[in-house]
Amino acid sequence: MKKIALITGASKGIGKALAEKMLDENFFVIGTSRDGEFSDFNTKDFYALKLDLSNPTSIENAHKEIFNTFKNIDILINNAGIGPDLDTYIPEKKSFNNTFEVNVDGAVFFTEPLIDMINHDGIILNVSSKMGSLDVCESTDSVAYRMSKSALNMYSKILSNRLKGKPRVASIHPGWVKTAIIESNLKNARLTPGESADKIFKFLTMAFGNGIYWDCENETELPW
Ligand SMILES: NC(=O)c1ccc[n+]([C@@H]2O[C@H](COP(=O)([O-])OP(=O)(O)OC[C@H]3O[C@@H](n4cnc5c(N)ncnc54)[C@H](OP(=O)(O)O)[C@@H]3O)[C@@H](O)[C@H]2O)c1
Repeated sequence: MKKIALITGASKGIGKALAEKMLDENFFVIGTSRDGEFSDFNTKDFYALKLDLSNPTSIENAHKEIFNTFKNIDILINNAGIGPDLDTYIPEKKSFNNTFEVNVDGAVFFTEPLIDMINHDGIILNVSSKMGSLDVCESTDSVAYRMSKSALNMYSKILSNRLKGKPRVASIHPGWVKTAIIESNLKNARLTPGESADKIFKFLTMAFGNGIYWDCENETELPW
């Protein structure tokens, strides 16, 4: 039987490339997007799920659909994320709240009810960012985005303590990737989504330690 990976935000960017990679690697993939429409995945091994992480009712409906359709999951990848204040300097209330709703509340409250159905030898992977590291931060930009990723990292740490490796939990930096999360990335970033997905998949196959914060681009551990 194929292993099952649930990837949030699989409609574009890193999540889409990761879904393609995992299908190539013989996984069954449950992919989410806000409209639940996926015209690019024409295979019986892909299950399209509608999920808006900023909407608690949508999260609840997605859980019901998952529980009714699947018995267990091997890998949960909390990839969906937004960065409306990337490259800006002064926090603005609406985008600040929206960033936290999706990147923090959404990730936490989507994950919690699923934990019991994730196999003990499975993985919960939180797609964070190097921008969430307190240790390496010398910047003054992107307040909400950076803070949301620091908060997500703390969730990874707490969850890894709680679950004690059953399943293992990690936070990763996927690299600087050419996606539309911010328009300038499409031109300036170093990695294509496919290259990032390859590096994330390589990490997933490593015997990494529970509760690690890993830079997939440089293949090194990151300081929290
Ligand atoms: N690109 C980079 O250089 C970089 C670097 C470090 C970390 N990251 C992280 O990598 C992850 C993926 O980012 P990306 O660059 O691939 O961005 P992206 O191309 O903008 O893709 C974001 C994904 O998240 C989904 N999404 C957006 N809002 C959502 C919501 N409210 N509820 C559920 N899903 C939602 C989108 O789906 P729909 O719009 O179809 O719903 C889309 O599939 C994010 O967590 C990001 O912070 C990216």
